[in-house]
Amino acid sequence: MIIPFNKPYLTGKETEYIEDAVKSGKISGNGKYTKLCQTFFEQNFGFKKCLLTTSCTDALEMAAILINIKDGDEVIMPSYTFVSTSNAFVLRGAKIVFADSRKDHPNMDENLIEALITPKTKAIVIVHYAGVACNMDVIMDIAKKYNLFVVEDAAQAIDSYFTGKDGIKKALGSIGHLAAFSFHETKNIISGEGGMLVINDEQFIDRAEIIWEKGTNRSSFFRGEVDKYGWVDIGSSFLPSEIIAAFLWAQLENIEKIQSKRKQHWENYFNTLSGWAVKNNIKLPILPEYSSNNGHMFYLICESLDQRNEIIEKLKRNDIMAVFHYLSLHKSPFYTDKHDGRHLLETDFFTDKLLRLPLYFELDTNIVIDKLINE
Ligand SMILES: Cc1ncc(COP(=O)(O)O)c(C=O)c1O
Repeated sequence: MIIPFNKPYLTGKETEYIEDAVKSGKISGNGKYTKLCQTFFEQNFGFKKCLLTTSCTDALEMAAILINIKDGDEVIMPSYTFVSTSNAFVLRGAKIVFADSRKDHPNMDENLIEALITPKTKAIVIVHYAGVACNMDVIMDIAKKYNLFVVEDAAQAIDSYFTGKDGIKKALGSIGHLAAFSFHETKNIISGEGGMLVINDEQFIDRAEIIWEKGTNRSSFFRGEVDKYGWVDIGSSFLPSEIIAAFLWAQLENIEKIQSKRKQHWENYFNTLSGWAVKNNIKLPILPEYSSNNGHMFYLICESLDQRNEIIEKLKRNDIMAVFHYLSLHKSPFYTDKHDGRHLLETDFFTDKLLRLPLYFELDTNIVIDKLINE
């Protein structure tokens, strides 16, 4: 039996709710299931306004439009991230200023941000890698001091929390001006492809709905606020169909069960592998005291690229698929000649040494652990 890296978990209600949506005769977007999902997030996570999108990529593109990114604006973000984090802003003409990761974690080092700010800087885009919080106290203070927007790329960060100096625990995605989530099949809560924009700064709510609806005021029209709708701004087709939302709703109804199982798997890996890791000069993930863990990902930090390749091969021989992750964006074929030449050594370190183990609802982590330790 092959143990894949990821296996989408189905709660059993997905097709029933899809059938319900289909039979209702309303299968385009912004119907009953879309509203159920959006309200669920608003009520349970302290998000001011949520709009489902067809991907996290779309939600990031909406964020870039909303904060009016223009040619030459600078946006600070980590280099250790997925290409959508940067592409969304490049599409609007931004220059990306990549910041290095922390030494102990792939998240952007918050202490490097201030030195990268220039009069052209418009936003800081942070990524809560593996669902682990960035230091939001420091980041929000810098943003306030320099009047910058903060966009949280919370693609992996559903149901994870930051506890600030004030002792208040806040959901990731509820702190920045805007945030983007992913429901791609590799995430904790899924809808095949799917995402969500969170708008925490009220000034963006009305325009977000317009951009979401292809640049029209159709949402106001459906609420009876205007008697015709038309083209009022730029926008695109960012909203998903009810079929996607119905699938997502079946998942959200089971979020506690899914999260509890994923966290158990994470804990089992962490507790059982600690002795083996020390013996092999491998580091296990670190959780800063201000962050919770959402069981999104379990990774190892290998001693070297060779060691990582050996572990990948060993697991593959045993039908277990483990995978590395991002390649530094500042060294990508698209960006290397646009990057300002700074060495981002920690980013390169994680590019070469981070290895993700399988983690999904139905996994038996003990099989993976046994092969890692005993083979
Ligand atoms: C940090 C990050 N941002 C954005 C995305 C894009 O998400 P989506 O596939 O929903 O567009 C991903 C995808 O895995 C991601 O890891």
